[in-house]
Amino acid sequence: MIFFDRVEFRYNEKSETSFNLKEVSFSCQKGLINGVIGGNGSGKSTVARLMAGMIQPLAGTIKVDGASPFAHIIQCGFLAGIIFQNPENQIVGTTVEEDLAFGLENLSLDREQMHSRVAEIARRFNLYDLLKAPVANLSGGQKQLLCIASVMVMEPSWLIFDEPSSHLDPWARQDFWQIVKSFICEKDIGVVVISQLPEDMQHFSHILAFDAGALVFDGTSNQFKKAAIGNTCFNLPESWKFERLMQISND
Ligand SMILES: Nc1ncnc2c1ncn2[C@@H]1O[C@H](COP(=O)(O)OP(=O)(O)O)[C@@H](O)[C@H]1O
Ligand SMILES: [Mg+2]
Repeated sequence: MIFFDRVEFRYNEKSETSFNLKEVSFSCQKGLINGVIGGNGSGKSTVARLMAGMIQPLAGTIKVDGASPFAHIIQCGFLAGIIFQNPENQIVGTTVEEDLAFGLENLSLDREQMHSRVAEIARRFNLYDLLKAPVANLSGGQKQLLCIASVMVMEPSWLIFDEPSSHLDPWARQDFWQIVKSFICEKDIGVVVISQLPEDMQHFSHILAFDAGALVFDGTSNQFKKAAIGNTCFNLPESWKFERLMQISND
């Protein structure tokens, strides 16, 4: 479980009044797709960085599977790994194999273990035949897969996707969602997906909505459908609006 209790954060420590996150409390469970939505600058990526332990809260408590993600990094690596929006900024190797092995270098595994982990993850993501290929030759969709694989190879207990599908074409986006759903079914791995795309919202079972650093909604997608119709802050899927209109006309 990811647990936030009255978490506050600001980037500019000197400014005493303005918070980038204001007293945010929620929890996310494994086995669900936890969706984080909100406009630009609403605090979504800040929540992701806090979950991963890349930054530390100014006040409040964060636990990921019972441990502090910030303290855990120093001892044993990421509890929650982030996949960022733009694969170009995340890829560090020149070949697929190098990129997959990069994070493992710090985990004090022997060569054998490293090779078998890289091979296993490459097979799972259909990248095995491309292990020796230069990353520059990959398609946009393959690069996105490589980013997910490079985080997965570290075996984090949670995966956080920060607007991962915003630049994928509709077909690649379908593949993306299939992979995300396979994690939830097969692996004991928690999933948080940040997205502003209305079409992604239909995949969320739990929704956290942010506005100006405050958590303005925490509930199921059905509850959100009812609460958010008429609210112009969020780009709801057309099908949801339609469904709601039909419901109202039947009431
Ligand atoms: N590295 C940073 N330094 C200073 N301010 C930042 C930084 N990153 C984000 N912010 C500010 O924090 C707020 C929340 O940003 P962010 O979490 O990136 O929002 P979102 O991901 O929802 O677009 C915004 O006002 C943004 O300008
Ligand atoms: Mg962001």
